Amino acid sequence: MKGIILAGGTGSRLYPLTKLMNKHLLPVGRFPMICYGIERLRKAGIQDILLIIGKGSAGLYTNFLGSGEEWGVNISYRIQENAGGIAQALGLAKSFVSPQDEFVVLLGDNLFQDNLTPYVKTFQQQPTGSARILLKQVNDPRRYGVPVFNGTDPNLIHYIEEKPKNPQSNYCVTGIYMYDSYVFEAISQIKPSARGEMEITDVNNIYAAMGLLQFDILRGWWTDAGTFESLHEAGMKLRGVKP
Ligand code: G1P
Repeated sequence: MKGIILAGGTGSRLYPLTKLMNKHLLPVGRFPMICYGIERLRKAGIQDILLIIGKGSAGLYTNFLGSGEEWGVNISYRIQENAGGIAQALGLAKSFVSPQDEFVVLLGDNLFQDNLTPYVKTFQQQPTGSARILLKQVNDPRRYGVPVFNGTDPNLIHYIEEKPKNPQSNYCVTGIYMYDSYVFEAISQIKPSARGEMEITDVNNIYAAMGLLQFDILRGWWTDAGTFESLHEAGMKLRGVKP
């Protein structure tokens, strides 16, 4: 099992802080945001981790994290030249994984309490070529990808709507995904969305249409830290916590 953390992007909702440095290096509690994702992967027994980063902050990442030795993991880096959406960033990881590898993908601004181990174990029992995503109940699903559940099979997601005006459930699709190398085939099938991004939701909907998208619901707290409000919330939750 390998890990991929997507930590590029412009972080425009956090300007002007993200003019200074990449969003995933901003402080959350006593550590840069990126450390929490690395630690969630390490705790789930995942040691080989690829960080997809933008070139502007690459030196800051390598200065701080190095090879990952200090964090008990092996870190590789890949540069995302132009931000083109989550699926485009994930596509850059293709050569990091071999055809038989399975991996967890984290959006670097998603911070959460759960240990990923049980979810990873369940994913490893799924058929080859299927995917697993983690959901969380939220008050404001319109900000996120929102699942529509399969009426007949309680393990499956029927469809995901990206930032719907009228959400069909009060769950959000968190930025915690599990795939095998089939995901690169799925990425090659999608086109940029109306907002000009290669959407991970379109990738997940390819799995959903085949009846191959399963899910778990996070038990502990979860937040993305992509806005000033949620960054502040994450900082309060992780105040004094060592990742
Ligand atoms: C992205 C995904 C969305 C998901 C969210 C989780 O949204 O597109 O489906 O619910 O991450 O953080 P973005 O933050 O890019 O708007």
